[in-house]
Amino acid sequence: MKGIYPSILSADFGKLAEEIKLVENAGVQGIHCDIMDGHFVPNITYGSMIVSKVNEITTLPLDVHLMIENPDKYIGDFVKAGADYISVHFENNMHLHRTVSIIKSEGIKAGVAINPSTPVDFLCDILPELDFVLVMSVNPGFGGQNFIERSLKKIRQLKDVIIHEKYKTIIEVDGGIDESNIRTVFEAGADMFVAGAAIFKSENKARTVKNMLKNIEMK
Ligand code: DX5
Ligand code: ZN
Repeated sequence: MKGIYPSILSADFGKLAEEIKLVENAGVQGIHCDIMDGHFVPNITYGSMIVSKVNEITTLPLDVHLMIENPDKYIGDFVKAGADYISVHFENNMHLHRTVSIIKSEGIKAGVAINPSTPVDFLCDILPELDFVLVMSVNPGFGGQNFIERSLKKIRQLKDVIIHEKYKTIIEVDGGIDESNIRTVFEAGADMFVAGAAIFKSENKARTVKNMLKNIEMK
């Protein structure tokens, strides 16, 4: 699960296959798909139909980040579309344990995402159930925002708990990650790094991916 996961939110959807192949050939570990419904976040992106197309384009794992209301209702659709990992948000979920159980019963990896204003402590009772935690380092809704520095403290805090409790939980960080800060995020304890604008808006996407991989000591 460790590695770089480009978010296609910032890719050119007119040539999505080309964009995905490019990052795949550059050595990324998976593709991050941002699903937004215009309710949980103030933006709408795409649904399972596009995820299923992405799954036809690549053999890489698909990391599906659900920023939607009623995620339970749609988990099955995203699994059918090819999701390998699904994360749901803590903030809009009264029955997180049930949702996580639904994801795991599909035989894929389950994660919970927390917004910048949500304390890591709130996860203590669900943490042993999770394959990964997604620490949002921007407010969800848009690509290309600046990394919120406070997130580093949250990553360190989460890592300490995981080590102390001997959990196997992976830490994913999403938002504002680029070549200049990825090393710091890695050193704070993150394992999975989502990057949208930094990769897809860069002049040389392959070179950016390779530099990022080097910074997290992969390749
Ligand atoms: C934001 C999304 C992110 C976003 C990251 O709501 O969850 O995955 O695409 O994009 P950058 O790397 O541009 O901040
Ligand atoms: Zn995301």
